[in-house]
Amino acid sequence: MIRSPNVVRQREAVSRPRRETLNGHMSVNLWFTGLSGSGKSTVAHAVEERLHLMGCRTYVFDGDNVRHGLCGDLGFSLEDRSENLRRIAEMIKLFLDGGVLSLSAFISPIEKDREMVKEIIGADNLIEIYCNCPLEICEQRDVKGLYKKARAGEIKNYTGISSPYEAPKNPDITLLSGYQSLQECVKIVIGELRERGIILK
Ligand code: ADX
Repeated sequence: MIRSPNVVRQREAVSRPRRETLNGHMSVNLWFTGLSGSGKSTVAHAVEERLHLMGCRTYVFDGDNVRHGLCGDLGFSLEDRSENLRRIAEMIKLFLDGGVLSLSAFISPIEKDREMVKEIIGADNLIEIYCNCPLEICEQRDVKGLYKKARAGEIKNYTGISSPYEAPKNPDITLLSGYQSLQECVKIVIGELRERGIILK
């Protein structure tokens, strides 16, 4: 939706394909979804590390970081989560044009919102990765101590406890991130990028 009708798109001289050629890899978004504590950020950062060492241009968008700045005005109601993801998707779209291989780690609990993200980014530009880790394991890990607080009623609308998580029905990749090692998860994701010809090395 645009509020100002007199804004005309500027045509670029340096296009996405030219950037991709210069970079030696395609731009794409790896969209990690899963419960808090399911390993989204850990895997995303480990994959980024590997890609960076291969010479790829990368960037990780992470719920905990973005919510301090760009989305700092948003909470965890379903409406706010939706707006959070819409803004992220628009940002990722610009990064795609910029030739970047982006990775995003957001709970993104609602199927309809993930569909909106795909619509904004373009389904062909996105690889959906489901970090499938049982709630009990996420809760045992409780890295940030938030599950404990949610159980005690100190945090409202906590995903998996008092707010829903709708698992993706047909993700491109499912990681059993409660059982597979970090190295295994990284290997699967990098393998998929090679198979799709996104990276050539
Ligand atoms: S999303 O639902 O909008 O996709 P996002 O990934 O940005 O969520 O943020 C999730 C992170 O915020 C969690 O990893 C956790 O650290 C923190 N958080 C704080 N409150 C909540 C809550 N009510 N539900 C889920 N995560 C929360």
